[in-house]
Amino acid sequence: FIDAVVFDLDGVITDTAHYHFLAWRDLAREINIDIDEMFNERLKGVSRMASLELILQEGNRQNDFSLSEKEEMAEKKNQHYCQFLKQLTPHDILPGIIELITAIKSEGVPIGLASVSRNASTVLKALQLEDTFDYVVDASKVKKSKPDPEIFLTACNQLEANPKRSIGIEDASAGIDSIKASEMFAVGVGNTLFKSDYQVDATNELNWEVIKAEYIKSVKVT
Ligand code: G6P
Ligand code: MG
Repeated sequence: FIDAVVFDLDGVITDTAHYHFLAWRDLAREINIDIDEMFNERLKGVSRMASLELILQEGNRQNDFSLSEKEEMAEKKNQHYCQFLKQLTPHDILPGIIELITAIKSEGVPIGLASVSRNASTVLKALQLEDTFDYVVDASKVKKSKPDPEIFLTACNQLEANPKRSIGIEDASAGIDSIKASEMFAVGVGNTLFKSDYQVDATNELNWEVIKAEYIKSVKVT
């Protein structure tokens, strides 16, 4: 009765969301903008250039840089971020994720990955998960970043899944919006994802039986 489950990558499969934050924080400091973890919630799930724009806006510096300067800044952040990725190993897969994936697959339900990161394939390789997902949608396959539904709809489409009978798992507010706009059932990992259909505090609480039960409940209510 469930067609597919589509996972976000950064912050759900592994804690690269924190590395993105550290790299942006250092870059922002160089131009005298302070960002904290709370502001970072708004960068999650947002593409590289759009993230930079949000940071510049935060510091009221959105008109201070040329396009090529901004591209340089984004590139600098990315190089810093890629340094962190070099340390990434399968040990960095978040708790409960392998168990969840195993449970889903044991029922023959296909799984997809939806990440707007241009580093998605590097991250998957480092975690040795490159053959785990039935379909991976990354930045190269979509035009619009989350919260647009394009990325989750593309994943469902490729998995031959009806979005209304599919589940998306996200740690970002923009990602939850993207899942909801796709008419999928949204599972949120975090404590501020109020638009989720079902929310857990951390990945170790993701349990396939519970998720299915919550999904069924929501279908009965609507
Ligand atoms: C994910 C992360 C964002 C990141 C984006 C682009 O959505 O949640 O924090 O900005 O990917 O990542 P990239 O690796 O292409 O800079
Ligand atoms: Mg994320």
